[in-house]
Amino acid sequence: MACTSGPLSVIDADLLVVPWFQGEAVDTLPALDRATGGELERALASKEFQAKAYELFFTPITDTSWHARRIVVIGGGNSERGGDLLRRLATAAGLAARQRCVARVAFAVRGQGGAADLAQAVAEGLTLAEFYGGSYKTDEPAPAPPPAWTIASLDAADAAPVAAAVARGRILGECCNLARELANEPGNTLTPREFARRATLLASEAGVKTEILDETQIEQLGMGLLLGVARGSAEPPRLMVFRYDPPGAPATPVLGLVGKGVTFDTGGISIKPADKMEQMKDDMAGGAAVACAMRAIALLKAPMRVIGVVPATENMPGGKAIRPGDVLKSASGKTVEVINTDAEGRLILGDGLWYARQLGATHLVDVATLTGAVVVALGKITSGMFGAPDAWVERVRRVANRAGDRVWPLPLFDEYKDQIKSDIADLLNTGGRAAGAITAAMFLKAFVDDVPWVHLDIAGTAWAEEARPYQPKGPSGVAVRTLAALAFEKFDEQC
Ligand code: BES
Ligand code: MN
Ligand code: ZN
Repeated sequence: MACTSGPLSVIDADLLVVPWFQGEAVDTLPALDRATGGELERALASKEFQAKAYELFFTPITDTSWHARRIVVIGGGNSERGGDLLRRLATAAGLAARQRCVARVAFAVRGQGGAADLAQAVAEGLTLAEFYGGSYKTDEPAPAPPPAWTIASLDAADAAPVAAAVARGRILGECCNLARELANEPGNTLTPREFARRATLLASEAGVKTEILDETQIEQLGMGLLLGVARGSAEPPRLMVFRYDPPGAPATPVLGLVGKGVTFDTGGISIKPADKMEQMKDDMAGGAAVACAMRAIALLKAPMRVIGVVPATENMPGGKAIRPGDVLKSASGKTVEVINTDAEGRLILGDGLWYARQLGATHLVDVATLTGAVVVALGKITSGMFGAPDAWVERVRRVANRAGDRVWPLPLFDEYKDQIKSDIADLLNTGGRAAGAITAAMFLKAFVDDVPWVHLDIAGTAWAEEARPYQPKGPSGVAVRTLAALAFEKFDEQC
């Protein structure tokens, strides 16, 4: 991914992408209109091109002194002009260029915000356009390799910070794509063992210390919740541990990232209906986000210590499977009456969160495709966000907004605890239909004590069921950029 700066006329590419915002007058970039022989002004005047978000207008450059041969003007709409929009415009333009087999694409950075921040967002967005999810197809040719990308700043100042930002954006985009590849992988290839092998390899290549605990070690730790979920499966569970310990980093804070790694969720004995069950191969998207964020954190040389924990298992209804009504003992000592074996994510995360605390995490964030209820509440656009104290929740929220992961807070009032009270054990694993995403989070809260903690429920956002101009159908890579960016924040006990 290259970087240049200077006027549009010297940008060398087969296709030059220029964002255009609604209401802009042609004379904001008069040279551009002249280079197209007046086509831009004509298209705007005739309303052929209205600059609605993601609208594309292709036209040749007739001025032979320009280096680029063709431009595509991409509509930016009229609501925002910041990094979040530019990231999406870049993905949309990148996907359109790939569809047309363009070899060299340059994106002219235009928008509101710091030059480096905008360039980073564009680098992320273009990289996200490289994802290909059809690797098992044998009856159509593999797609052409992605175009060579150039990010062009229109003003020449500050080249070094922009280049560094582009390099960061490239890494973050690639780590998102790796998480998407993992989430896209079917359950028969991505078993817990294979998931652990691939996810730890991705992180260790970048310099993260990794460990894979097997079922015996998991038992020695007393993780009865993780083992309970794994009982119904012929595939043994694994617990991944990631440690990023940069030389010279202070002893605290230690960021602890925990991800749900259910490689396939049938529901267990409380089995799911057949319709859409295939989708449950992505029930490890949170775990993939943690592993790929660990990789990004190491590649980007974050200044703080970070720990990652990913419990990985299938949820299957085998002959040894746990039954509704069974009581399991967690590693923390708390007992859980399992009344629905399909509420397995919170079980394995209970042990995972406890372990991250044991390893010294001072601030926790977990990411999980946890509940259908969060999809009812927030749809497929926004991840549910829960946690305490408010200062930590607010910090994660700010970081997520900047990273382009949409999140929205939901409450954890103590009264919700009543719904997960058991008659014979410390906790029930489900709280009924009302406030299902909240009672799931309340369950997790019982395993974090007083450590600042945020839970992101990505059940709605991990997988796009419909294509959008900036997001193809399939795995989204949600939360990777947020988790990675958190390792660059400055926080302490007060958050
Ligand atoms: N993995 C599912 C949640 C899910 C649902 C993810 C839809 C993606 C899309 C989770 O393990 C689950 O089954 N949750 C149950 C909980 C219920 C039994 C309390 C649910 O949401 O139905
Ligand atoms: Mn389930
Ligand atoms: Zn699940």
